[in-house]
Amino acid sequence: GIAVIDFGSQYSHLIARRVRELKVYSEIANPSDTWEKALVHQLGGTVTRGTKQEFGHATLHQDSPSAGWGLPGGRPPLFHELPPSFQVWMSHGDRVEMLPAGFSSLAFTENSPVAAIGNGRDMFGLQFHPEVNHTPLGTEILENFLFRICGCEGSWTPGNVASDAIARIREQVGDGSVICALSGGVDSAVTAALLHRAIGDQLTCIFVNNGLLRLEEAERVQATFRRGMGLNLSYVDASERFVTRLAGVTDPETKRKVIGEEFIRVFEEAATGLGEVEFLAQGTLYPDVIESEAPANAPAGSALSARIKTHHNVGGLPENMKLQLVEPLRYLFKDEVRDVGLELGLPPDMVYRQPFPGPGLAIRVIGEVTLEKLEMLRACDWIVIDEIKGADLYDRVWQSFAVLSDSRTVGVQGDYRTYGYVCAIRCVTSEDAMTADWVRLPYEVLARISSRIVNEVPGVNRVVYDITSKPPGTIEWE
Ligand code: XMP
Repeated sequence: GIAVIDFGSQYSHLIARRVRELKVYSEIANPSDTWEKALVHQLGGTVTRGTKQEFGHATLHQDSPSAGWGLPGGRPPLFHELPPSFQVWMSHGDRVEMLPAGFSSLAFTENSPVAAIGNGRDMFGLQFHPEVNHTPLGTEILENFLFRICGCEGSWTPGNVASDAIARIREQVGDGSVICALSGGVDSAVTAALLHRAIGDQLTCIFVNNGLLRLEEAERVQATFRRGMGLNLSYVDASERFVTRLAGVTDPETKRKVIGEEFIRVFEEAATGLGEVEFLAQGTLYPDVIESEAPANAPAGSALSARIKTHHNVGGLPENMKLQLVEPLRYLFKDEVRDVGLELGLPPDMVYRQPFPGPGLAIRVIGEVTLEKLEMLRACDWIVIDEIKGADLYDRVWQSFAVLSDSRTVGVQGDYRTYGYVCAIRCVTSEDAMTADWVRLPYEVLARISSRIVNEVPGVNRVVYDITSKPPGTIEWE
């Protein structure tokens, strides 16, 4: 595999992902695990703060071929079959002043006399970013590195990832029993599917209906896992308990706390009925692992970032049950989890489902959560998803959903005055949920959503579209 050493660059994750896209396993490593300083520093060269920062497109010119590499034409293998000059993306303020012993310069740009270095054998340093799309030949450079220089095989495919994970689960679990909380989301679904393949009936999944799910979600999960896959599924309908506990609660963080606590209680009760259990399977993903392993002084934007809301995932499970964790997705990025899910035969609908918050519809009903409001919101949400899918937009946006506001407005329907709730539509694009922009939905789509909601959902008589980006707004309203 390839270790990407994270010195706080915002690009580390992207490099690891690009390498994996080329079917080579790659991991993010901490400098403290490996080296102390950056490449040029480490080998005895010097780096200074350049007078000019270089940010954006630049033309990279390869230095004249030198015999150093012992290859025909004298070109370094990293640039094999690349033209003498090509476009690259720069983002740095430092420049290399003195090269480490044994290294020579391989390329330059207008502002960087040394933009690539090599030692004539197997060590290279690049000042530009081959991993971003703005470096059009970046993939070729990464391929040269992986396949020509490192001799990688390119065997990191969804099929191999799945069979590796299955083998590891068998090794860890032996003949022990495992429980897993299914949420309907892709992470827990793929976790359960892998475990089921690995250990069959030694796995029991618990699916808690907290009453805050979307229309038909509970039925869909049961259909896929129990009837489709033949998995042991314990279905707990706790919707009344949750709604009762939420009575009178209006503060968003209190809602999250109440839901998180109640979930643990319900889950523990359900698990107690299952007899001896040693393992708990969780769908922890690689970005969470990187985040929790980052050093406390990690630079802003790299791995740690301020928590605006406490995000209770259904994964946040009882500590006092003393279960050993099984986390088969621990080294996977989201898109890889999806590929493994498809490989295991999960329905594309489930694999490509948009993110849905753990506290569910409770943080989309503004103010107090009641059964009546949940029913209204479920109906609105269904219409939004139906129309967004109908317009072929579902896979192209990050999230699209309805929010039931706490405001009521006057309307007129037939010959009657109405006094109903305002439903807000939220549809955003995002890369990682840290920032987001509202989608310029076509007017026709908005028109259909609006007229369907006011006609089909009793109690709602007005629809508005949220045109706030994040920041300053957040994606959810609470
Ligand atoms: P915000 O609203 O903070 O949301 O911009 C960012 C992403 O996180 C999801 N979200 C949550 N997920 N528990 C979750 O599991 C939560 O309490 C929670 N709050 C927000 C939100 O849907 C979006 O994808």
